[in-house]
Amino acid sequence: MGLSIVILAAGQGTRMRSDLPKVLQPLAGRPLLGHVLDCAHELGADDIAVVYGHGGDAVRDAFPGESVRWVLQAEQLGTGHAVEQAMPDTPDGNRVLVLFGDVPLLTADTLRGQLDATGADELSVLTVDLDDPTGYGRILRDGDRVTGIVEQKDATPEQLEVNEINTGVMVIPAAPLKAWLSSIGNDNAQGEFYLTDVVGLAVNDGVAVRAVKADSAVEVMGINDRRQLAEAERALQARRVGELMTAGVGFADPARVDIRGTLTCGKDVFIDVNAVFEGDVVLGDGVTIESNNVIRDSRLGSGTVVHPNCHIESSVAGANCEIGPFARLRPGADLADRVKVGNFVEIKKSRVADGSKVNHLTYIGDTEIGTGVNVGAGTITCNYDGANKHMTVIGDNAFIGSGVNLVAPVEVGAGATIGAGSTITKAAPADQLTVERSKQITVEGWQRPVKKN
Ligand code: UD1
Ligand code: CA
Repeated sequence: MGLSIVILAAGQGTRMRSDLPKVLQPLAGRPLLGHVLDCAHELGADDIAVVYGHGGDAVRDAFPGESVRWVLQAEQLGTGHAVEQAMPDTPDGNRVLVLFGDVPLLTADTLRGQLDATGADELSVLTVDLDDPTGYGRILRDGDRVTGIVEQKDATPEQLEVNEINTGVMVIPAAPLKAWLSSIGNDNAQGEFYLTDVVGLAVNDGVAVRAVKADSAVEVMGINDRRQLAEAERALQARRVGELMTAGVGFADPARVDIRGTLTCGKDVFIDVNAVFEGDVVLGDGVTIESNNVIRDSRLGSGTVVHPNCHIESSVAGANCEIGPFARLRPGADLADRVKVGNFVEIKKSRVADGSKVNHLTYIGDTEIGTGVNVGAGTITCNYDGANKHMTVIGDNAFIGSGVNLVAPVEVGAGATIGAGSTITKAAPADQLTVERSKQITVEGWQRPVKKN
């Protein structure tokens, strides 16, 4: 039996009090809806429809190239009305799995379990027992049988006592779903067409309704306000860090790390507190990330250590490098093995070959540095003439003294030594000392001025 997934993402999310549509609020650096889409793709449905509306094209535009069917719900008249918008192109013979764009922590495993537990002609609702069910729709039962769902705002005081809630996830055969949707009304506290009303209609039609209980309350939490968003963020981070610890990664404090993307680690990686990983980050065996580092879309080779307070973006380091403290690697920094980048050093779009050191207070941009090079403190590659960027090339084993300006385009030969304080504008030959510096003079008999009264 074919599977169609319908993801509801048209609501405004008033309780978020934000200009951004709710389903675009970021969770671990990805919009809420993105997490639901990932889960939907994992299930391998024949057809995934996303119902969007509030915020107009912003929601659709946030997912360019996503292979889903975008269905517009021009007016947000309720969850039932939203599902109905996706029905015309849904094959009658399919089962429909309804997901909410604001329930982002669901796993494909849980959904597979629900699909397996639901017979072809049955309707099922994913439910969970909550100590505090406030805000959610309550599951009504007659003994073991589910008889309906009542929304918080429509519930009687006795119904509000029910702890079993509707997570929003439902599996419904398409053909009867279409009929039920066309007969639900909006005579309720919110004046909306509730998807939850199909449960009562199914019961009336003698269709078996199953409540499948989720194992984890956290997994099915709906995000309606900032508090819940923050709670979901911590829960998702805990899940990710937990998986990494199971795989052997060490953390000083699992609660003080944030992974906003994918972090892939080798063996014996250790991560100290306040590390933030964004995009795709790959850490080789034995990498140590000390405290307060932000690392984005980068790859660090085995044995490399990042000392505290670095910002590393779209960069690559080989094995056994030392980076920081206080280093900034900007896009295109490419360090080979055993490279040292010290404090207050900024490197952009530059290759630094094996064993070279750039240890203090330096800017390296658009540069190729050979092997075994030592770049002295306060060296600047002057790569920008105000209009264009130019290359600096430094040969193997060159020694650049402190406080040197290398005005690009310029080349320093292999084994060359550049005297401290030089401003180098022409090629410096290999194996020789090049100095550009005015002569030091001492003024005989000079005296310091004396303060007048
Ligand atoms: C809904 C359920 C409630 C359940 C809870 C679980 C209904 C009537 N209520 O309530 O039983 O306990 O979720 O989190 O289904 N949406 C649209 N179009 C609309 C309205 C909503 O696409 O016209 C989307 C929203 O973007 C959201 C989802 O549907 O992703 C749920 O809507 P929301 O308003 O948050 O419903 P709840 O009040 O949380
Ligand atoms: Ca909700």
